[in-house]
Amino acid sequence: LVLVVDFGAQYAQLIARRVREARVYSEIVPHTMPVADMLARRPKAIILSGGPSSVYAEGAPGLDPTLLTAGLPVFGMCYGFQLMARGLGGEVAPTGAREYGRTEVRVDDPGTLLADVPAEHRVWMSHGDSVVAAPEGFSVLASTDVTPVAAFEDLTRRLAGVQWHPEVMHTEHGQQVLEHFLHDIAGCRQTWTMLNIVEEQVEAIRAQVGEGRAICALSGGVDSAVAAAIVQRAIGDRLTCVYVDHGMMRLGETDQVRRDFEEVFDELDVVDAADQFVDALAGVTEPEEKRKIIGREFIRTFEAAQARVFADLVPTSGEGETAYLVQGTLYPDVVESGGGAGTSTIKSHHNVGGLPDDLTFALVEPLRVLFKDEVRAVGEQLGLPSTMVWRQPFPGPGLGIRIIGEVTRERLDLLRQADAIAREELTRAGLDRDIWQMPVVLLADVHSVGVQGDGRTYGHPVVIRPVTSEDAMTADWARLPFDVLERISTRITNEVEAVNRVVLDVTSKPPGTIEWE
Ligand code: XMP
Repeated sequence: LVLVVDFGAQYAQLIARRVREARVYSEIVPHTMPVADMLARRPKAIILSGGPSSVYAEGAPGLDPTLLTAGLPVFGMCYGFQLMARGLGGEVAPTGAREYGRTEVRVDDPGTLLADVPAEHRVWMSHGDSVVAAPEGFSVLASTDVTPVAAFEDLTRRLAGVQWHPEVMHTEHGQQVLEHFLHDIAGCRQTWTMLNIVEEQVEAIRAQVGEGRAICALSGGVDSAVAAAIVQRAIGDRLTCVYVDHGMMRLGETDQVRRDFEEVFDELDVVDAADQFVDALAGVTEPEEKRKIIGREFIRTFEAAQARVFADLVPTSGEGETAYLVQGTLYPDVVESGGGAGTSTIKSHHNVGGLPDDLTFALVEPLRVLFKDEVRAVGEQLGLPSTMVWRQPFPGPGLGIRIIGEVTRERLDLLRQADAIAREELTRAGLDRDIWQMPVVLLADVHSVGVQGDGRTYGHPVVIRPVTSEDAMTADWARLPFDVLERISTRITNEVEAVNRVVLDVTSKPPGTIEWE
């Protein structure tokens, strides 16, 4: 285990990933964690992340110097590098010249940290202060035009640092430098693989759940599927998976999802609630109201499933019986909500029909330590179908928020046809992995005049919204080739009778969101 001490969340997650890419397991801890607690985790090395501030700024996060003298290997990056320099008696000063972005660095003496790195190369910097004198015992390895000490190491104490950000993509040889620290200076063994995480989690879940039982709501997406698959490995058929078919999936999707799930999960409860959802949405046009209704119906359906699964669990006196709820929470969500180890226990709501009042639910979250692409890798390790592992994101409320206006069965059918054509053409053009998502939106309350055959038509427009993105937080409209757009447009207007116009959404996010509602 390598602990990444977070002095400003911007880069810490990326560092943790890069460490794992070097096949060493790592986790992030906040800089406010007492050193004793960090040492209690028995890390093999410590990495000090970058941070937003100058070490001299008021309220700048500090470093307990005992972390540097605990005998553990420590690597400082950017702000972490300066904290290290200052904490060990070096000198950090505002040089007046700031370096932001791409910077040329000169390797003066490669040492171990910069071995085999080109003498001049480009790195990503972001700092105002500079280390002007290295602490005693350190050799200075590199410099830039404005920074006399841009990298240093002390092999005896196994301490090293760089002024730049080796973790970002724009830094050349960043991974190489990080690996020199981890493998050659700190002596971390390269044992981390996706298989380890599965085995570790399986063990942990067995210990946590014991002879208890668990339930998991599957959405159709990759996170809940992988989480459930890991838990099933641990406790077998004492896990029940619930898939709620809300009737707003795309053409053929429910069948695909059902087939995939049936293949993977032993105890699968498929609840056909399509009528219940569509009826509940009757007459509703306001997007937030639609979302609330869909959320409410989902909870109702899932609670009914829970009541069935746990019906015979009788609460014991006092603590109550424990039932487990599996969730596909990812590491970024954990960090965002303030971190915290272990599992939290949530009290079951009183409106959980049929469940004893003092039954408690404990969370099982096997993906708490993983990033999205790691989840996909674990999914492949577990042999899950690739349709499951590589599914593009699809919103929980489904087509319900892609019909602008009231959701009806007829409109859902219309949209399903148009959407199927658009997806088919995208796949045929080989663009599935280049495009993050391509919602097709039915403007159900809008009509436009057209001419089809010899007659006037008065049909609906559909909008196609292909976007590129890395995390859905921001997105750009995808420049689909005109001939692909043309095929989509021609086919939809020919094959879907009630649609006589196809419109392309050319809005980035922000200001537009990816979905229309
Ligand atoms: P927006 O429209 O906010 O969407 O740009 C960002 C990403 O989130 C997906 N999305 C949802 N996913 N439940 C989900 O599971 C939802 O209610 C939901 N709403 C939007 C959307 O498809 C995009 O990938």
